[in-house]
Amino acid sequence: MRLLITGASGLLGLNLALQARNAHTVVGVDRCKLGGVPFEVLCADLLEPGAPEKVLEAAQPDGLVHCAALAELEPCEADPGLAARLNAVLPGELAAACKARGVKMAHISTDAVFDGTGPEAYTEADAPHPLSVYARTKLDGEKAVLAADPAALVVRVNFFGWSPSGRRSLAEFFFNNLSAGKRVQGFTDVTFCPAFVGDLADVLLLMLSRDLSGLYHAVGAECLTKYAFGVALARRFGLDDALITPASVEGSGLTAARAHNLHLSVHKLSTALGQSLPAFSTGLERFYTQYQQGFPQKSRSDPQA
Ligand SMILES: NC(=O)c1ccc[n+]([C@@H]2O[C@H](COP(=O)([O-])OP(=O)(O)OC[C@H]3O[C@@H](n4cnc5c(N)ncnc54)[C@H](OP(=O)(O)O)[C@@H]3O)[C@@H](O)[C@H]2O)c1
Repeated sequence: MRLLITGASGLLGLNLALQARNAHTVVGVDRCKLGGVPFEVLCADLLEPGAPEKVLEAAQPDGLVHCAALAELEPCEADPGLAARLNAVLPGELAAACKARGVKMAHISTDAVFDGTGPEAYTEADAPHPLSVYARTKLDGEKAVLAADPAALVVRVNFFGWSPSGRRSLAEFFFNNLSAGKRVQGFTDVTFCPAFVGDLADVLLLMLSRDLSGLYHAVGAECLTKYAFGVALARRFGLDDALITPASVEGSGLTAARAHNLHLSVHKLSTALGQSLPAFSTGLERFYTQYQQGFPQKSRSDPQA
């Protein structure tokens, strides 16, 4: 498959592109930051008029995984207009352009579309209720994609991994601070289901190869608090977990509202794929192996890792 990946300089986009190139021809889109990557790159600001058409015309892909977004909560609160254009309007435009060209689109969304007060494990049939600008614009993006192209795939995710910036994921937050001997807070009242980004990349490629359509949850198979996540990571890396202070998100001073329970069911996806999703422990092990192999450093300076 000829696969176009937007957000190729981001945490998911770069990891997905590096993994997908083993079996597919990858074309990444970025804003001229990437250098020395082992796949073709198109330099484009996707908010420029006509950009969706231009990148599809230039890449001539069979499939598109749309990872580009304003993906952090606080910048979305600070600039809701930009968040809406990037997270809601652009995905709809890309979906319409993909439909017109017969390109299979997978759009990446978020577990944060839920408010965390609902059932023990949210299914795809549960009504979303976003709490923040980020979550509202991502939900609008899901709707825009499926309205423009019902054959598209919308995938709600949550993941951790090594990012090009070295600061993008919660795992890196714990790793960077604990390695420097710094104390951090770990929220005991926020539950989430993190997937290792390499496992998520495998799952996304499998979903595309099976030609799935519609809305799916593709989070990790196990859910834990952010505090427990930090402790598990610290123990695997031989870092001091006593540096993590159990805390409540309510006193954290963060501007954007966060949901307390983002336990999403992956039953629909595991049934469609006929297999269970990778366990948290194996994902953490793959994350640690990448560290031992020097992947974090290489993906920052020379992403040919
Ligand atoms: N990280 C998580 O745990 C998490 C959780 C749930 C959902 N998600 C979703 O997963 C997806 C990927 O997230 P991520 O963490 O990988 O994001 P990220 O690391 O912040 O990367 C975002 C990417 O979007 C690109 N981008 C932003 N504006 C652009 C524009 N105008 N034109 C072209 N490219 C642009 C960025 O390029 P530059 O490098 O040039 O800025 C970057 O490559 C997003 O849809 C996000 O909402 C992430």
